[in-house]
Amino acid sequence: MNSRIDKIRESEKISHTKIYTDEDLYNTDSWLKKPIKMVKDIVPLLSDHGCIRVLDLGCGIGRNSIYLAEQFKDKGCLVDCIDILDIAIEKLKHNACIHDVEENINGMVCTIEQFSVLENTYDLILAVSALEHVESQKAFLDKLQEIKAGIKSQGIVCLVINSEVTECNMNTEEVMDPQFEVNLPTKLIQAYIDDAFAGWNTIKKTISPQEYDIPRDSAISHLSTNVITFVGQAP
Ligand SMILES: C[S@@+](CC[C@H](N)C(=O)[O-])C[C@H]1O[C@@H](n2cnc3c(N)ncnc32)[C@H](O)[C@@H]1O
Repeated sequence: MNSRIDKIRESEKISHTKIYTDEDLYNTDSWLKKPIKMVKDIVPLLSDHGCIRVLDLGCGIGRNSIYLAEQFKDKGCLVDCIDILDIAIEKLKHNACIHDVEENINGMVCTIEQFSVLENTYDLILAVSALEHVESQKAFLDKLQEIKAGIKSQGIVCLVINSEVTECNMNTEEVMDPQFEVNLPTKLIQAYIDDAFAGWNTIKKTISPQEYDIPRDSAISHLSTNVITFVGQAP
């Protein structure tokens, strides 16, 4: 690991620890308020799958995985949830108990790059604001291939990835090195996705320019990003 990655991970750990400590899932005004819309839209697409196996890479405290476990609980499901932070997985397990899905949530503290996705195993793989946090461009490309290989026939991949991020310290107006381990041009990520999932049925492929403020160390950072969303279904 190099010092740039260490610095980003320390800064991300501080900001995520604060939000995961201070806020309750689905009971807050932040991004933890509800699952992303795309995840809700995917549920009916899996209605004719049997017992559902899901992988949520960079799961946080379960914003999307707890919802999915609730939706698929009756037909049997297991959601493998991976996060680099101990506190994320602790709170994920706590939230699984509160929502009565503790049997359906399998939380693991692990990095996305170290977690080996089993081949031909998952009905759904999610990586929401997570793949841009692997340690290198090579790790990013390798993980796309692993995700593709991990999906069963007719299974679905849902990726939400920040690209071309710029970051500015609001207090000093200084332009900063964006605190994203892999900060690639939008077109390049699109090309990687097109290549990795060629021949799949594209359900959604969008680029949404977004701006928002986040706490970063002792200041507030203004972020500008092109958020890429890709949802595809395997043949
Ligand atoms: C912006 S949050 C999104 C969480 C969740 N996907 C959601 O949509 O609510 C990013 C999450 O990815 C985790 N993360 C960052 N880098 C990671 C890595 N290399 N491996 C595993 N998890 C990572 C963070 O700890 C954090 O919980």
